Amino acid sequence: MRLLERLEELYAIGGGPGANRLGGSAQEDEAHELAAGWMKEAGLDLERDAAANLYGRLRGRRPELPEVWTGSHLDTVPAGGRFDGALGVVGGLEAVERAGQQERTLTVVAFRDEEGCSGPGCVGSRALCAALLVPRPAAFVELHVEQGPRLQNVDAPLAVVTGIVATARGEAVFEGREGHAGTTPMAGRSDALVAAAEFVLRLRDAAAAVEGAVATAGRLEVEPGATNVIPARARVSVDLRAPDTQRLDAVAAAVPAELSRTAEVEMAREPTRVLREQLGLLGVPVIELASGAGHDAGVLAAAGVPTAMLFVRSLNGGISHSPEELSAPEDIARAVTALEGALTRLAGSVDE
Ligand code: GLV
Ligand code: MN
Ligand code: MN
Repeated sequence: MRLLERLEELYAIGGGPGANRLGGSAQEDEAHELAAGWMKEAGLDLERDAAANLYGRLRGRRPELPEVWTGSHLDTVPAGGRFDGALGVVGGLEAVERAGQQERTLTVVAFRDEEGCSGPGCVGSRALCAALLVPRPAAFVELHVEQGPRLQNVDAPLAVVTGIVATARGEAVFEGREGHAGTTPMAGRSDALVAAAEFVLRLRDAAAAVEGAVATAGRLEVEPGATNVIPARARVSVDLRAPDTQRLDAVAAAVPAELSRTAEVEMAREPTRVLREQLGLLGVPVIELASGAGHDAGVLAAAGVPTAMLFVRSLNGGISHSPEELSAPEDIARAVTALEGALTRLAGSVDE
């Protein structure tokens, strides 16, 4: 399948193990170049905006009307998988090509730096939405892997997404006093890393106490960072998710730092209904899931773009942000068919 070959081409960028196309890196640029080539090959009109997001447009018969968009991101976490983000761009392009010319213009977008491995994430889609999004797309439909085990558990290939959880990210900094590792008595120490370690455990307990919440400290920097020096400073990244802002706040109370937050967001009724209908036509169960992962779709939805998401079953227990990430070719094929149908429905009708 051409789509799988393209995913492999993207995966090979940057070497490995795993996909390594961090947001803002030369590898992310390379992925955008590759995708731009595929879009050009498909006869799409290319555009890059001020944030370097990439757009490929299949002009509609009525190009003056608001467009219908699909797409996702091409950056990855360090040692990421083949599908996260890339599937939405490559599968989106496939679906647009198959749909062919409609009344409205069909646009495939590749957003920049969705992962935000050392920042708030969704850099490209936030920049787009912070600028005036005029005219707003009529709809955005993002195809993505589930990144969890729920579809595998119920033996279903696809799901429509109901909404995206509330998130908070930031960094907690702990100060201590550097000193000689061999001569400073334990009783007199102020060790920043010990304080950070106690914080990580408190954070774990705070999230475990709130239904549906999760907390992760995924990055740690220690200064001066020498085996024989007591740590003077420790910086710990914080990533919180919860079904709603209230529950997020309950976990965030354990964090002694300002966090950058996004509220929970619901997917829009109409494009979601169209997706549901497409799953019905495919004869697969219509499963509805909330997303625990963040997505560019959440940013567009919060900016008022009618947005829907289609999830493809993740295998291997749903593992993601890992080279072990896996989805079956037949599930992906069904997802592209459903996406093509949804885009055709959304871009083919112009009754307003
Ligand atoms: C993006 O993958 C996220 O961190 O949710
Ligand atoms: Mn993603
Ligand atoms: Mn991701």
